[in-house]
Amino acid sequence: MNPELRQHAARYVELLHRHGKEEAWLPTGLVRRLPSNATSAAPAPLTSPVRGTSKSETSPAFRSTPTVTSPKPKNDFDLNSVLKEMGGTKADKLAALRKKTDTCKICAHLAKSRTQIVFGVGDPEAKLMFVGEAPGAEEDKQGEPFVGLAGKLLTKMITAMELTREQVYIANVLKCRPDMPANTSGNRKPTRTEMDACLPYLRAQVAIIAPTVIVALGSTAVEGLFGPQKTTISRLRGTWMELDGVPVRPTFHPSYLLHNQDLALKRLVWTDLLAAMEKLSLPISEKQRGYFLKPAT
Ligand code: URA
Repeated sequence: MNPELRQHAARYVELLHRHGKEEAWLPTGLVRRLPSNATSAAPAPLTSPVRGTSKSETSPAFRSTPTVTSPKPKNDFDLNSVLKEMGGTKADKLAALRKKTDTCKICAHLAKSRTQIVFGVGDPEAKLMFVGEAPGAEEDKQGEPFVGLAGKLLTKMITAMELTREQVYIANVLKCRPDMPANTSGNRKPTRTEMDACLPYLRAQVAIIAPTVIVALGSTAVEGLFGPQKTTISRLRGTWMELDGVPVRPTFHPSYLLHNQDLALKRLVWTDLLAAMEKLSLPISEKQRGYFLKPAT
Protein backbone atom coordinates (compact mmCIF):
# COMPACT_ATOMS: atom_id res chain seq x y z
CA MET A 1 0.00 0.00 0.00
CA ASN A 2 1.13 3.55 -0.70
CA PRO A 3 2.93 4.63 2.53
CA GLU A 4 0.90 7.79 2.91
CA LEU A 5 -2.37 5.88 2.47
CA ARG A 6 -1.13 3.38 5.05
CA GLN A 7 -0.47 6.20 7.45
CA HIS A 8 -3.96 7.54 6.86
CA ALA A 9 -5.43 4.09 7.37
CA ALA A 10 -3.73 3.89 10.74
CA ARG A 11 -4.98 7.34 11.63
CA TYR A 12 -8.47 6.26 10.56
CA VAL A 13 -8.44 3.45 13.08
CA GLU A 14 -7.40 5.95 15.73
CA LEU A 15 -10.21 8.25 14.67
CA LEU A 16 -12.73 5.41 14.78
CA HIS A 17 -11.66 4.76 18.34
CA ARG A 18 -12.01 8.39 19.22
CA HIS A 19 -15.52 8.23 17.83
CA GLY A 20 -16.26 5.32 20.07
CA LYS A 21 -16.31 2.76 17.25
CA GLU A 22 -15.12 -0.71 18.04
CA GLU A 23 -15.79 -2.30 14.69
CA ALA A 24 -15.18 -1.35 11.08
CA TRP A 25 -16.62 -2.47 7.78
CA LEU A 26 -14.08 -3.89 5.44
CA PRO A 27 -14.40 -3.73 1.65
CA THR A 28 -15.09 -7.47 1.79
CA GLY A 29 -18.33 -6.74 3.60
CA LEU A 30 -17.02 -8.28 6.81
CA VAL A 31 -17.20 -6.49 10.09
CA ARG A 32 -13.84 -6.45 11.76
CA ARG A 33 -13.37 -5.82 15.43
CA LEU A 34 -10.83 -3.06 16.01
CA PRO A 35 -8.23 -3.48 18.74
CA SER A 36 -9.55 -2.12 22.01
CA ASN A 37 -6.58 0.20 22.22
CA ALA A 38 -5.17 1.99 19.17
CA THR A 39 -1.65 1.50 20.42
CA SER A 40 -1.91 -2.24 20.02
CA ALA A 41 -1.31 -4.05 16.78
CA ALA A 42 -4.30 -3.59 14.52
CA PRO A 43 -6.05 -5.89 12.04
CA ALA A 44 -4.19 -6.26 8.80
CA PRO A 45 -6.11 -4.39 6.10
CA LEU A 46 -6.71 -1.30 8.13
CA THR A 47 -3.72 -0.94 10.32
CA SER A 48 -0.60 -2.51 9.00
CA PRO A 49 2.34 -0.59 10.40
CA VAL A 50 3.10 2.60 8.59
CA ARG A 51 6.13 3.45 6.55
CA GLY A 52 8.73 1.73 8.69
CA THR A 53 11.30 -0.44 7.04
CA SER A 54 13.04 -1.99 10.00
CA LYS A 55 12.09 -4.50 12.68
CA SER A 56 10.31 -1.72 14.49
CA GLU A 57 7.64 -1.98 11.82
CA THR A 58 5.85 -4.09 14.36
CA SER A 59 5.58 -1.11 16.66
CA PRO A 60 2.26 0.74 16.85
CA ALA A 61 1.15 2.35 13.64
CA PHE A 62 -0.38 5.32 15.34
CA ARG A 63 0.16 6.14 18.95
CA SER A 64 -2.35 7.97 21.00
CA THR A 65 0.01 8.07 23.95
CA PRO A 66 3.25 10.05 24.18
CA THR A 67 6.50 8.30 23.46
CA VAL A 68 8.52 10.67 25.65
CA THR A 69 7.92 11.51 29.25
CA SER A 70 9.89 14.71 29.71
CA PRO A 71 9.18 17.24 32.46
CA LYS A 72 6.04 19.21 31.86
CA PRO A 73 7.02 21.98 29.42
CA LYS A 74 5.55 25.35 30.15
CA ASN A 75 5.19 28.29 27.83
CA ASP A 76 5.70 31.54 29.70
CA PHE A 77 4.94 33.42 26.54
CA ASP A 78 3.00 36.50 27.63
CA LEU A 79 0.60 37.00 24.78
CA ASN A 80 -0.44 40.53 25.63
CA SER A 81 2.99 42.00 26.22
CA VAL A 82 4.41 40.28 23.16
CA LEU A 83 1.59 41.64 21.01
CA LYS A 84 2.02 45.12 22.48
CA GLU A 85 5.72 45.10 21.61
CA MET A 86 4.99 44.15 18.01
CA GLY A 87 4.53 46.95 15.56
CA GLY A 88 3.76 47.15 11.87
CA THR A 89 1.26 45.31 9.76
CA LYS A 90 -0.31 41.93 10.52
CA ALA A 91 2.29 40.40 8.21
CA ASP A 92 5.11 42.07 10.20
CA LYS A 93 3.62 40.84 13.46
CA LEU A 94 3.26 37.30 12.16
CA ALA A 95 6.86 37.40 10.93
CA ALA A 96 8.02 38.51 14.40
CA LEU A 97 5.98 35.77 16.05
CA ARG A 98 7.32 33.23 13.62
CA LYS A 99 10.87 34.18 14.63
CA LYS A 100 9.99 33.39 18.24
CA THR A 101 8.50 30.02 17.40
CA ASP A 102 11.38 29.11 15.07
CA THR A 103 13.72 28.84 18.04
CA CYS A 104 11.19 27.48 20.55
CA LYS A 105 12.62 24.69 22.70
CA ILE A 106 9.87 24.45 25.31
CA CYS A 107 9.15 20.87 24.29
CA ALA A 108 12.79 19.79 24.20
CA HIS A 109 11.97 16.41 22.65
CA LEU A 110 10.09 18.05 19.75
CA ALA A 111 12.75 20.71 19.24
CA LYS A 112 15.20 17.84 18.83
CA SER A 113 13.08 15.73 16.50
CA ARG A 114 11.57 18.36 14.22
CA THR A 115 12.99 19.30 10.85
CA GLN A 116 11.49 22.72 11.23
CA ILE A 117 8.61 24.59 12.79
CA VAL A 118 5.39 24.50 10.76
CA PHE A 119 4.13 27.94 11.62
CA GLY A 120 1.16 28.52 9.33
CA VAL A 121 0.42 29.74 5.85
CA GLY A 122 -1.93 32.10 4.09
CA ASP A 123 -3.18 35.65 4.15
CA PRO A 124 -2.32 37.55 7.38
CA GLU A 125 -5.52 39.52 6.74
CA ALA A 126 -7.64 36.39 6.25
CA LYS A 127 -11.19 36.37 7.55
CA LEU A 128 -11.27 32.59 7.62
CA MET A 129 -8.78 30.47 9.51
CA PHE A 130 -8.47 26.68 9.55
CA VAL A 131 -6.87 25.01 12.56
CA GLY A 132 -5.65 21.41 12.48
CA GLU A 133 -3.89 19.34 15.12
CA ALA A 134 -0.21 19.01 14.25
CA PRO A 135 2.13 18.68 11.28
CA GLY A 136 2.70 15.23 9.84
CA ALA A 137 5.84 13.94 8.16
CA GLU A 138 5.25 15.78 4.90
CA GLU A 139 4.43 19.04 6.67
CA ASP A 140 7.58 18.69 8.80
CA LYS A 141 9.59 18.22 5.61
CA GLN A 142 8.03 21.09 3.67
CA GLY A 143 7.42 23.51 6.56
CA GLU A 144 3.83 24.07 5.50
CA PRO A 145 0.62 22.79 7.12
CA PHE A 146 -1.73 20.45 5.28
CA VAL A 147 0.38 19.52 2.28
CA GLY A 148 -0.15 15.73 2.41
CA LEU A 149 -3.23 13.77 1.35
CA ALA A 150 -5.41 15.35 4.05
CA GLY A 151 -4.09 18.72 2.94
CA LYS A 152 -5.08 18.05 -0.65
CA LEU A 153 -8.60 17.33 0.54
CA LEU A 154 -8.60 20.50 2.63
CA THR A 155 -7.55 22.45 -0.46
CA LYS A 156 -10.51 20.92 -2.34
CA MET A 157 -12.83 21.96 0.48
CA ILE A 158 -11.49 25.51 0.29
CA THR A 159 -11.90 25.51 -3.50
CA ALA A 160 -15.52 24.36 -3.11
CA MET A 161 -16.04 27.48 -1.01
CA GLU A 162 -14.72 29.42 -4.04
CA LEU A 163 -11.71 30.49 -2.06
CA THR A 164 -8.02 29.72 -2.38
CA ARG A 165 -5.43 28.63 0.17
CA GLU A 166 -3.84 32.04 -0.31
CA GLN A 167 -7.04 33.79 0.80
CA VAL A 168 -7.42 31.91 4.08
CA TYR A 169 -4.98 31.15 6.89
CA ILE A 170 -4.07 27.59 7.84
CA ALA A 171 -2.32 26.63 11.06
CA ASN A 172 -2.13 23.84 13.62
CA VAL A 173 -2.43 23.74 17.40
CA LEU A 174 1.07 22.20 17.50
CA LYS A 175 3.85 23.81 15.49
CA CYS A 176 6.17 20.80 15.70
CA ARG A 177 5.54 17.34 14.36
CA PRO A 178 4.90 15.01 17.30
CA ASP A 179 7.99 12.84 17.56
CA MET A 180 7.95 9.14 16.84
CA PRO A 181 10.23 6.35 18.03
CA ALA A 182 13.38 5.88 15.96
CA ASN A 183 12.87 4.05 12.68
CA THR A 184 9.13 4.40 12.74
CA SER A 185 6.94 6.75 10.83
CA GLY A 186 3.30 7.68 10.93
CA ASN A 187 1.93 10.19 13.33
CA ARG A 188 0.79 10.29 16.88
CA LYS A 189 -1.75 12.46 18.62
CA PRO A 190 -0.12 15.42 20.40
CA THR A 191 -0.22 15.17 24.18
CA ARG A 192 -2.20 17.56 26.33
CA THR A 193 1.07 18.96 27.68
CA GLU A 194 2.45 19.61 24.20
CA MET A 195 -0.77 21.28 23.12
CA ASP A 196 -0.89 23.45 26.24
CA ALA A 197 2.71 24.51 25.65
CA CYS A 198 2.07 25.46 22.03
CA LEU A 199 -1.41 26.97 22.28
CA PRO A 200 -0.17 30.49 23.19
CA TYR A 201 1.46 30.70 19.74
CA LEU A 202 -1.80 29.82 18.01
CA ARG A 203 -3.70 32.28 20.18
CA ALA A 204 -1.16 34.93 19.21
CA GLN A 205 -1.73 34.08 15.54
CA VAL A 206 -5.48 34.41 16.09
CA ALA A 207 -5.00 37.73 17.93
CA ILE A 208 -2.88 39.12 15.08
CA ILE A 209 -4.95 37.85 12.17
CA ALA A 210 -8.25 38.50 13.97
CA PRO A 211 -10.26 36.22 11.66
CA THR A 212 -14.05 36.42 11.60
CA VAL A 213 -14.37 32.63 11.74
CA ILE A 214 -12.18 29.70 12.69
CA VAL A 215 -12.89 26.19 11.44
CA ALA A 216 -11.41 23.59 13.82
CA LEU A 217 -10.53 20.41 11.99
CA GLY A 218 -11.13 17.32 14.09
CA SER A 219 -11.48 16.41 17.72
CA THR A 220 -7.82 16.91 18.58
CA ALA A 221 -7.84 20.47 17.26
CA VAL A 222 -10.95 21.15 19.37
CA GLU A 223 -9.26 19.58 22.39
CA GLY A 224 -6.14 21.64 21.79
CA LEU A 225 -8.15 24.86 21.58
CA PHE A 226 -10.61 24.25 24.39
CA GLY A 227 -9.25 21.44 26.56
CA PRO A 228 -10.70 17.97 26.97
CA GLN A 229 -14.32 17.74 25.88
CA LYS A 230 -17.08 15.75 27.52
CA THR A 231 -18.57 14.93 24.15
CA THR A 232 -17.48 13.75 20.72
CA ILE A 233 -16.67 15.73 17.60
CA SER A 234 -19.81 14.21 16.06
CA ARG A 235 -21.84 16.13 18.65
CA LEU A 236 -19.71 19.26 18.63
CA ARG A 237 -19.81 19.75 14.89
CA GLY A 238 -22.81 21.69 13.75
CA THR A 239 -22.41 24.04 16.72
CA TRP A 240 -20.43 27.20 17.40
CA MET A 241 -17.75 27.50 20.03
CA GLU A 242 -15.67 30.59 20.77
CA LEU A 243 -11.96 31.26 21.15
CA ASP A 244 -10.91 34.69 22.42
CA GLY A 245 -14.11 36.15 21.01
CA VAL A 246 -13.78 34.47 17.61
CA PRO A 247 -16.54 32.01 16.56
CA VAL A 248 -15.14 28.52 16.04
CA ARG A 249 -16.91 25.90 13.95
CA PRO A 250 -15.73 22.38 14.79
CA THR A 251 -15.92 19.83 12.01
CA PHE A 252 -14.43 16.47 11.09
CA HIS A 253 -10.75 16.27 10.14
CA PRO A 254 -10.09 15.74 6.41
CA SER A 255 -8.21 12.51 7.30
CA TYR A 256 -11.48 11.12 8.61
CA LEU A 257 -13.20 11.96 5.34
CA LEU A 258 -10.39 10.35 3.36
CA HIS A 259 -11.31 7.02 4.86
CA ASN A 260 -15.00 7.43 5.00
CA GLN A 261 -16.43 8.14 1.60
CA ASP A 262 -19.94 8.34 3.00
CA LEU A 263 -21.84 11.09 1.20
CA ALA A 264 -23.76 12.01 4.36
CA LEU A 265 -20.49 12.59 6.21
CA LYS A 266 -19.21 14.85 3.43
CA ARG A 267 -22.48 16.72 3.60
CA LEU A 268 -22.05 17.28 7.35
CA VAL A 269 -18.64 18.82 6.81
CA TRP A 270 -19.96 20.85 3.91
CA THR A 271 -22.82 22.09 6.13
CA ASP A 272 -20.20 23.35 8.59
CA LEU A 273 -18.35 25.12 5.79
CA LEU A 274 -21.61 26.65 4.55
CA ALA A 275 -22.24 27.93 8.09
CA ALA A 276 -18.76 29.48 8.08
CA MET A 277 -19.45 31.07 4.68
CA GLU A 278 -22.72 32.51 5.99
CA LYS A 279 -20.94 33.96 9.01
CA LEU A 280 -18.45 35.51 6.59
CA SER A 281 -21.27 36.87 4.39
CA LEU A 282 -19.72 35.11 1.41
CA PRO A 283 -21.93 34.60 -1.62
CA ILE A 284 -23.36 31.07 -1.78
CA SER A 285 -24.80 29.78 -5.04
CA GLU A 286 -27.71 27.34 -5.26
CA LYS A 287 -25.27 24.83 -6.68
CA GLN A 288 -23.02 25.21 -3.63
CA ARG A 289 -25.99 24.82 -1.29
CA GLY A 290 -26.73 21.47 -2.91
CA TYR A 291 -23.22 19.96 -2.74
CA PHE A 292 -23.12 16.39 -1.38
CA LEU A 293 -26.87 16.02 -1.19
CA LYS A 294 -26.70 13.39 -3.90
CA PRO A 295 -23.83 11.48 -5.51
CA ALA A 296 -21.97 13.41 -8.21
CA THR A 297 -23.03 12.32 -11.69
N1 URA B 1 -3.15 17.11 9.80
C1 URA B 1 -3.16 18.20 10.59
O1 URA B 1 -3.92 18.28 11.54
N2 URA B 1 -2.33 19.18 10.28
C2 URA B 1 -1.52 19.16 9.22
O2 URA B 1 -0.80 20.13 9.00
C3 URA B 1 -1.55 18.01 8.41
C4 URA B 1 -2.37 17.00 8.71
